[in-house]
Amino acid sequence: MLRIINVVGARPNFMKIAPVLDEMRRRSNTIDPLLVHTGQHYDESMSDAFFDDLQIPRPDINLEVGSCSHAQQTARIMTAFEQVLLARRADWVVVVGDVNSTMAAAIVAAKMLVPVAHIEAGLRSGDRSMPEEINRLVTDALADLLLTPSRDANENLIREGISPQKIRFVGNVMIDSLFRSIDRARDSKILEQLNLEPGKFCAMTLHRPSNVDDKETLSGILDALEAIAEHLPIIFPVHPRTNERLHQFELIEQVQRNPSLILTEPLGYLDFLRLYSSSALVLTDSGGIQEETTALGIPCLTLRENTERPITVTEGTNRVIGNKPDVIIREALRVLEQDTIQARTPELWDGHAAVRIVDAIEEADAKVN
Ligand code: UD1
Repeated sequence: MLRIINVVGARPNFMKIAPVLDEMRRRSNTIDPLLVHTGQHYDESMSDAFFDDLQIPRPDINLEVGSCSHAQQTARIMTAFEQVLLARRADWVVVVGDVNSTMAAAIVAAKMLVPVAHIEAGLRSGDRSMPEEINRLVTDALADLLLTPSRDANENLIREGISPQKIRFVGNVMIDSLFRSIDRARDSKILEQLNLEPGKFCAMTLHRPSNVDDKETLSGILDALEAIAEHLPIIFPVHPRTNERLHQFELIEQVQRNPSLILTEPLGYLDFLRLYSSSALVLTDSGGIQEETTALGIPCLTLRENTERPITVTEGTNRVIGNKPDVIIREALRVLEQDTIQARTPELWDGHAAVRIVDAIEEADAKVN
């Protein structure tokens, strides 16, 4: 029996682990999976709602680390996860994505000589001012099996000297969740609740420190949103960090005064899927949403200087435009007026990545043991 400890911590992890856990449970005669939630995200709207929407079983263990500085959060996860690995024999630890929980769990497992599989390995923005880039570099340097979503990720890993034997191109597992959920998302009432017509609004998400932690930057982005909202209303589910900053910088009233700029709580997976899949345009600084919009052919503008997901630009619907207000307005109006973004679905974003991932772990295990 292959004992696998799967680790998740933050919102973008949940849609990546759901299909993998499903596949592991389907192979219950050979695999015994355990799910550990670090508690990095803990609000109902940032965590529990996703477990319900994605039909993920409750975590077997919750480390309840909560919010704190990066070093403290990483250290707390490491201390608590070490106890888990001391108490339970594991043949593999599986980590996903690039959040602090991913890196912390990978370090603990590697030091305790438990093989690590990293799902979504090899993505690089080349920008070490992003905490996620540090998490990716460390996790990939330690992982024994690197499961990549696109071929550019393989090239990044090879360039960093990682043995090709450890790398497997498996495709994008987040798209498995997307394809499985799209029918259920049609039952979401979010458009009716917000009084929206499909194709007649934009969706927005924003949470990166580089966009929200500086008052002038955040205020400039809001000015751009107000200009775009003169053409189409913008629905903006607000991440807790962004909400805190809007209040701290006293920008919240400016936003609330504008009836075409509609702020909501963070939405669950199905409501958000229904929302962005019906929108004319998505504006975001998220990583995953760049991929989800590409898979569905929805135009996406990314308010960052770079992306670790270049395939969403070269093949998909994404444009990386930075956060200068005049550029945001110009690019958004260009999409809304011309609607010309051409896209194709990247290779192996086919809804079957989880099967390839679990196959790859079983095969790697046969080699290790
Ligand atoms: C984390 C990830 C980021 C990912 C994002 C998605 C890291 C380094 N960053 O960023 O890659 O894109 O999740 O959401 O791991 N908070 C709450 N409730 C929660 C969670 C957070 O109120 O359930 C607030 C707290 O004030 C906290 C802040 O949000 O300090 C930031 O949370 P944190 O987990 O540190 O990072 P995120 O910005 O969410």
